[in-house]
Amino acid sequence: MRRGSIVQLVAIGAVCGAGAALVALLIPWLPHAASEQAGRIDFVFWFVTTICIAIFALVAAVILYSVVKFRAAPDDDSDGPPIHGHTGLEIVWTAIPAALVTAISIVSAVVLAKNEDLPHASAASPNPLRPLVVDVMAQQFFWTFKYPGFGNLTSSTLRLPIDVPVKLRITSVDVTHSFFVPEFGQKLDAVPGSVNTLAVTPDRLGTFPVICTELCGLGHALMRSQAQVMTSQKFRSWAKAGRQKPGGAASGKALFASNGCDGCHTFKPAGATAKVGPDLDKLREEAQRAGVPLEQFIRESIVNPNAYVEPGYPKGVMPGTFSTLPKAHLDALVKFLAGGRR
Ligand code: CUA
Repeated sequence: MRRGSIVQLVAIGAVCGAGAALVALLIPWLPHAASEQAGRIDFVFWFVTTICIAIFALVAAVILYSVVKFRAAPDDDSDGPPIHGHTGLEIVWTAIPAALVTAISIVSAVVLAKNEDLPHASAASPNPLRPLVVDVMAQQFFWTFKYPGFGNLTSSTLRLPIDVPVKLRITSVDVTHSFFVPEFGQKLDAVPGSVNTLAVTPDRLGTFPVICTELCGLGHALMRSQAQVMTSQKFRSWAKAGRQKPGGAASGKALFASNGCDGCHTFKPAGATAKVGPDLDKLREEAQRAGVPLEQFIRESIVNPNAYVEPGYPKGVMPGTFSTLPKAHLDALVKFLAGGRR
């Protein structure tokens, strides 16, 4: 091969490679990672992407060069010269991909192993933050997060301290859902009857969406919550304030949050602003429209949500599972909603 041809090949390859690199770099393909695991996954992604761009540049250069250089004249109907294989080339184009695929496998295996690695809580000195265990419960169509290390504190948003390894124990009470926080880089199915564990070590402060990523029914698209990554200090004071006192009377406000009502509804006394379901600040007007006394209307709407559905909202989105709430909880919730006060 002449020197000029090699220069041409390299030039075409450089242009193609640069073009592909710009597409990879300029478009924000991935969310900004917010966990150690996502950072490692991003590394694998860029490792593979770099290899792909190099191979793309090589192949594109050879193809474009050949199309131009070895183009047959329009009046040339003759057969091409007979060609036997080229052993040297074949060895090279088998060995290089084999080496690259092996490298990708090793890097991926190391990242997978590291991402699943969690410190084991020792029985001698149990520290609720090494790792922090959170029970994630999926249900049509909301998420509940329970903190067994903090007196089974329950929340409808996933609050996590920064730089603390977290073990999410994910399950479902009805159908299959899937837990996904794009910034954490991982998805895991929530399956009724089994508990799947996911390790997350958040390393960036902020609020990120929790998304259900398995079609689970009419309200699937609305099955969202938030993951709030906060400083350890803030997390501890939140956990301390929210910790349920054993035997203490459950407040309507706390029940509103722990049952996930604030995931779907607006209700000023609870500081809830979600817009999936009807606005509970307007319960009085809604009860009038339904023609039922206020307290009875609220109770029915919780226990048997499809009996009356506010116009403009789809049927079957509000879960029917609240009919199993203990009577004391139901009473407290009805009182809280009817009074608009604690
Ligand atoms: Cu739960 Cu989709």
